Amino acid sequence: ETTVTVSPAVLGFNAVAKNLDDIVTVPAGYSVTVMTRLGDPIAAGVATYANDGTDTNFAQRIGDHGDALYWYGLSPTGTRDDNSSVRGLMVQNHENLNVQYLHPNGPTNVSSGPRPAAEAIKEIEAHGVSVTEYRDTGNRTWTWVQDGAFNRRITPNTPNEFHGPVRGSDFLKTVASTDGTAGRGTINNCSNGHTLWGTNLTCEENWAGYFLRSGDDGARTPRELTALRRYGVTSSTGNYAWASAGSDPMFRRWDARASGASALADYRNEPNQFGWVVEIDPYDPTKAPRKRTALGRMGHEGAWPGKLTAGKKFAVYLGDDSRREYFYKFVSATDWDPNDAQATDRLAVGDKYLDNGTLYAAKFNADGTGAWLPLVFGSVPNRPVTGAEPEYVFASQVDILVNARLAADAVGATPMDRPEWTATNNATGEIYLTLTNNNAAGRPLTGTDAANPRHFNDPKGASNQFGNPNGHIIRLRENGDDPAATGFAWDIYLFGADSAEADPNNVNLSGLTADNDFSSPDGLWFSRPQNPAGLVKPLLWIQTDDGAFTDRTNNQMLAALPGTVGDGGAKTITNVGTGGATATQATRVGAAATPATLKRFLVGPKECELTGVDTTPDGRTLFVGIQHPGENGDPTAPSSHWPQSQGGTASGRPRSAIVAITRDDGGVVGL
Ligand code: FEO
Ligand code: CA
Ligand code: CA
Ligand code: CA
Repeated sequence: ETTVTVSPAVLGFNAVAKNLDDIVTVPAGYSVTVMTRLGDPIAAGVATYANDGTDTNFAQRIGDHGDALYWYGLSPTGTRDDNSSVRGLMVQNHENLNVQYLHPNGPTNVSSGPRPAAEAIKEIEAHGVSVTEYRDTGNRTWTWVQDGAFNRRITPNTPNEFHGPVRGSDFLKTVASTDGTAGRGTINNCSNGHTLWGTNLTCEENWAGYFLRSGDDGARTPRELTALRRYGVTSSTGNYAWASAGSDPMFRRWDARASGASALADYRNEPNQFGWVVEIDPYDPTKAPRKRTALGRMGHEGAWPGKLTAGKKFAVYLGDDSRREYFYKFVSATDWDPNDAQATDRLAVGDKYLDNGTLYAAKFNADGTGAWLPLVFGSVPNRPVTGAEPEYVFASQVDILVNARLAADAVGATPMDRPEWTATNNATGEIYLTLTNNNAAGRPLTGTDAANPRHFNDPKGASNQFGNPNGHIIRLRENGDDPAATGFAWDIYLFGADSAEADPNNVNLSGLTADNDFSSPDGLWFSRPQNPAGLVKPLLWIQTDDGAFTDRTNNQMLAALPGTVGDGGAKTITNVGTGGATATQATRVGAAATPATLKRFLVGPKECELTGVDTTPDGRTLFVGIQHPGENGDPTAPSSHWPQSQGGTASGRPRSAIVAITRDDGGVVGL
């Protein structure tokens, strides 16, 4: 093996050029291996994926739209081994569908139904989470094991348990769970979290749109209506119109209209069963996932733990990804005990740290300080009259957790430019948060603030797009480096921009160049701190999900060596709006980027999003998720042929997939 000395670390690769090619492009000296793809069988006896729309049984295949991923090591005898870099379990979220490619000629009546039951079953089962065994068969020659003993699919139909304060409450009682302690499945799983006791936190993001829920206002209380509208449970069909597919509860549950005599006679409470952080033990396929209600109900993007220190509180950082939603943290009531890291009942450890604590929402002040506002019954004021919504009076802590967005409104948290992933720099304890973008309605010229400071005209959108189309990355440091602190310092680490077109005075504020310009950051992850190769300064990996920069390049991934909060300083931005109107906004920015500290590592294939990143513990294999290549094509004219195209075959339907990236000399990726 190559010896690596990395203090201070440097980015040791040559930047990949922006491009529109239909392959994964990596730096010279690196290789790409396509791993599990949409539809690949992960149980014995399941047929190879035909990829022509005829395949069935997605409950035993890799799902669609692979999103966040994480490696869970296995020893040679198949037990948990956090240090293994040659055998492990890949746990991957399956967020959504390229539905056009799942059926021979595309879906039938997908917008409003009636849906054929067989099509709906396939689409439901293609969501959720997969666990698949991966193996290095020698010198980073990677393969995956179809009949691995831990292989598992968790779908929207998989039984789960509710834990924490909301368990057993009236909010969760449905036809299928009359005591409100259990439910079925998880959906729209976006980003994730990894716990040091060896479990996975999968996060339910855009769940609201799957429900048909309109036309029943007369049967709902004003309180219910305010909550349903605040969370967007307002569709007249539901995504993919699954409720139209038949009388089986697997379909009927997606019709959340109040139609019966009581909440136990229909599925009106089914939307309350979603919007949670869900803990999975990948090492025990017999254990049902546990929904952790103490972490609140929202459009959970991710749930990344802060740095763990013995005797200090356990904290988890939570983004709620919609325009003008909030950034949250959960602080456990329990101090971290390192002895719990190797406990054998891992979900019981989850019960200890994740079922009892305090949820906070973030308020960012203009002077570079911030406050965590507790969402605690008794201290949260009523949510005042808001637009057409009446005052909302919280009834209990359970009500606050189920309706965390309403509580964050009430305490005056800062509405953000779409909070996506969080990441923890374990060298400093600092927390990073991607804010992917916002439009003029969400961030008008006179509606900027210090933490969301930009509004300008991006001339490259399909129509001119004002607002913050390129996004930014904010970071914070807890006061006293205490995860339980109620105050923090913050600055803006990076601003997205097109270096060729953007004015350095009001758009390209981080000094980006052709080697590192990007837009709409989303996935975000710091390299593993326990890297045995000696990586002492963590690498930050940044993934994009962009609509404003795709004239120039497919989505991309960058590597970075960030500094610390406060390494830049105060700055005043001159924003530009319609007709050349201007307004200034003071903010706090990090040091400008340089190609030595920020560099493009990878460009994905056509119409994909980069999402999902981890390495083996030795840092020598990087796993990356390629989500929805060819998302705008159709079955007769796919707009991407990836991953077939990675091997030179420009035909066939595109498939989301994981790639394993290695350095040809066997070194640590990125250095
Ligand atoms: Fe699923 Fe906010 O990305
Ligand atoms: Ca995302
Ligand atoms: Ca996104
Ligand atoms: Ca996506």
